[in-house]
Amino acid sequence: LMLTMLVGFSAEAGMQVNSDGKPVVSVASDCTWPPMEFINKDKQIVGFSVDLMKAAAEAGGYVVEIKNVAWDGIFAGLASGKYDCICSSVTINKQRKKGMDFSDPYFEVQQSVVTNKDSNAKTLADFKGKKLGAQIGTTGYFAVKKTDGVVAKSYDEVGLAMEDLYNGRISAVVCDDPIAADFALQQEEYAKRLKIAFVVKSDTPEYLGVAVQKGNKEVVDLINKGLAAAVKNGSYDKIKAKWFGS
Ligand code: ARG
Repeated sequence: LMLTMLVGFSAEAGMQVNSDGKPVVSVASDCTWPPMEFINKDKQIVGFSVDLMKAAAEAGGYVVEIKNVAWDGIFAGLASGKYDCICSSVTINKQRKKGMDFSDPYFEVQQSVVTNKDSNAKTLADFKGKKLGAQIGTTGYFAVKKTDGVVAKSYDEVGLAMEDLYNGRISAVVCDDPIAADFALQQEEYAKRLKIAFVVKSDTPEYLGVAVQKGNKEVVDLINKGLAAAVKNGSYDKIKAKWFGS
């Protein structure tokens, strides 16, 4: 069979369609962020975001193709058209909105601070003179950066920061709360020595959204339609219960 018979282009818009005539949306995800998006023991891309994107596609009448893309450079890849959107626990904020558009918010997070169990710190400022780790270019990293007197250490993956914390090379890791809970409470070795010390106070809530190229109404409309339908048909609540308990 020739590929052109399987993959065509929709007449109006130029978006790819599959053999059933459904639009195909390519999704980039940095799969180092459990339980939101990560690679499981069977080498599969899984997580809350992954299930949600699939449910939204199913309910919205389109198909998603999720690929693992490193966080550092993920926004540049969107801008240059390597994929149609990013679903990677991306916090919607003013700065990012200058360069891209977002779907409706689908989840809320806070920045959690993971430390050794014996730490008494209650705020980021309590780590004066110490090293704090976070994934590069994340809201957690920016929270560390703007704290006077602490040393911000950036990592390509939050897991590497957790490893350094575990081995005593840094004093804390700052990341989205579901990820902090996964490493500090769920992962057996880490749970013995690490804890979630506190949540960083913020005056603006952190909502997660799917990012598309600025002005890409076609894709953002599909995603929003799918997300709304997945909420309506109960999939959203089921997926939330699956990954976070009800
Ligand atoms: N919510 C944070 C942000 O937008 C971190 C997201 C990191 N996501 C990932 N898959 N590594 O900055």
